[in-house]
Amino acid sequence: MKKMKKLLKIVLLSSMPLLMFSCYYDEFPEAVGQDDVVIPPGTVVSFADDIAPIFVTYNCTQCHNPSGQNPDLSPGNEYASLTSGYVNPGNSSTSKLYTQLADNGHRNVDAQSIALIKKWIDDGAENN
Ligand code: HEC
Repeated sequence: MKKMKKLLKIVLLSSMPLLMFSCYYDEFPEAVGQDDVVIPPGTVVSFADDIAPIFVTYNCTQCHNPSGQNPDLSPGNEYASLTSGYVNPGNSSTSKLYTQLADNGHRNVDAQSIALIKKWIDDGAENN
């Protein structure tokens, strides 16, 4: 009887690593990162249809409104406000709108929206 117990213990102990590592995968599916989203080069990103709605989705005007934090992102004011210092047309990497969302992780904006903002700025930040 004692021998059986010992044997059981050995079997249990030696199978532990097997149990512990049986759910191990070499590769975990990764979350979609900024670099994974590519807006096709020919795409025309529209400020009215693609960019302004992002500010609505993320409720940016809760803080960025005429009497609040700059830039003013309320409907009708966003373009003028952004292009007075927060966007450098043609250069997303020096544009606060882009760096604040992409590099500082402001408001946890999704990768697709950030990619659209980047392309819109790099394409000249038009009021289109
Ligand atoms: C809960 C309030 C709040 C919300 C919502 C919010 N912001 Fe901000 N935002 C701030 C504050 C406060 C600052 C200034 C401090 C800082 O840079 O974090 C700021 C700074 C910024 C700046 C940089 C301004 C500068 O002078 O450098 C930009 C651009 C910006 N926000 C864009 C956005 C966008 C786009 C959204 C929506 C996706 C958004 N914010 C949502 C509070 C908010």
